[in-house]
Amino acid sequence: MFVCTECKSRSQKWSGKCLNCSAWSSLVEAPDEKKKKGLGGGGSAAPLVALQDISASAPAHARLSTKIASVDEVLGGGIVPGSLVLLAGEPGIGKSTIVMQIAIAARGALYVSGEESADQVSLRMKRLAGPGGKADIKFIGTTDFEEVYNAIKTHRPTLAIVDSVQTMRHPDVPSEPGNVAQIRAVANALMDLANQTGVPIILIGHVTKDGSVAGPKTLEHLVDVVIALEGERSDRLRFMRCFKNRFGPTDEVAVLEMLENGLQPVADPSGLLLQERSLPVPGTVVTCLMDGNRPILVEIQALTTRTTFGFPQRRAVGVDTGRLQILLAVLGRRMGLPVDQFDVFVNVVGGLSADEPAADLAICMAIASALADKTIPQTVIAFGEVGLSGEIRRVKNMDKRLKEAERQGFKFALVPAAKNFPTTKTLKLTPIADIKSVLEKIEK
Ligand code: TYD
Ligand code: MG
Repeated sequence: MFVCTECKSRSQKWSGKCLNCSAWSSLVEAPDEKKKKGLGGGGSAAPLVALQDISASAPAHARLSTKIASVDEVLGGGIVPGSLVLLAGEPGIGKSTIVMQIAIAARGALYVSGEESADQVSLRMKRLAGPGGKADIKFIGTTDFEEVYNAIKTHRPTLAIVDSVQTMRHPDVPSEPGNVAQIRAVANALMDLANQTGVPIILIGHVTKDGSVAGPKTLEHLVDVVIALEGERSDRLRFMRCFKNRFGPTDEVAVLEMLENGLQPVADPSGLLLQERSLPVPGTVVTCLMDGNRPILVEIQALTTRTTFGFPQRRAVGVDTGRLQILLAVLGRRMGLPVDQFDVFVNVVGGLSADEPAADLAICMAIASALADKTIPQTVIAFGEVGLSGEIRRVKNMDKRLKEAERQGFKFALVPAAKNFPTTKTLKLTPIADIKSVLEKIEK
């Protein structure tokens, strides 16, 4: 018997597609029915736990620190015992590196790899622990998930790492490793195991740039915490952010740098992001994003080229294309810019995502500056949300953003109109009511 993990319907034969709900690869082998008598046919009752008797400060339940403060923050204060953390990222981005650093910090971790040999992993461990550095890590090199499951259950490590979900072969699922049914079965089993044993587990999942390949996306609702490691592979900077956390907030971002000794925290992310600024060219402007509580300055770049035939293209790296389309519609309809005759490309330098509305104003200014072929002075910083009628709306944490801009030596800030402006010494604030008034300034 097989059962569909989506609609729970049963069928005699396994097939790639559920005949009932049409979900793909959702059939898994059903547990043997004959052994069960059904509800009401005996069996034991679950033990009751008195919630008031559980002491929150019991040391056994303390979170596991990764020994990197910003990574702990992203995790909501460390790794919760008995939780399953999914670490997703593109191949080569540094997932195996960061989990090895965490494994070293955990003392007594178990590292499972279905991708690399003991030699390779040991080499990485020694490099990351540094000369004279101590590490206590057990290794299993296998793709047989049953062996992994039993090993975690038997040995109860302080932390278990499974690298990667795509390489594990669950014995109950007939399809190939990496298949959606396989990775779901593996994640489900690890979730139960983490709960039962109290062992925190980090599960690595590869994603491709568009994130669409069967994989971590389908696991997000199964696990406790989803962490993504992002960045440009050609660049040293990496951003670790949390997309889901059953035990804490999800708005922190850790800025890390890939060095010889692994991923290390960056003390001054704004400085690093801005240090490679080019000469002033049309289409670039700096804005300030918030990563949790910390302001980060990033450069937004736009390039426009006349559309040669057909539909104008819109491409963006680090900006949601849906958001870009809306901003282009505002620039076109409200400001009369000829955006429908131009292909528009937008990029956030350094690989950070500008998914905050506060970046709107800078994105619009970068596009307008590119279209007008006019340079915006490099001493200018801009932030504000752009509404559908072109009005500039207020954003949160204005004072933190301005303080950071001042610290980095900016002289002029274009900001939304506010009742009380924070006081600044060397930074001149210009309140902007609507996008039109900024564009007029650019034109001049
Ligand atoms: P890796 O962690 O293997 O990526 P993933 O597991 O996400 O596929 O890391 C990939 C790159 O990181 C690799 O090109 C080598 C580089 N690297 C460093 O620069 N410094 C280091 O200390 C380590 C361990 C790796
Ligand atoms: Mg790897």
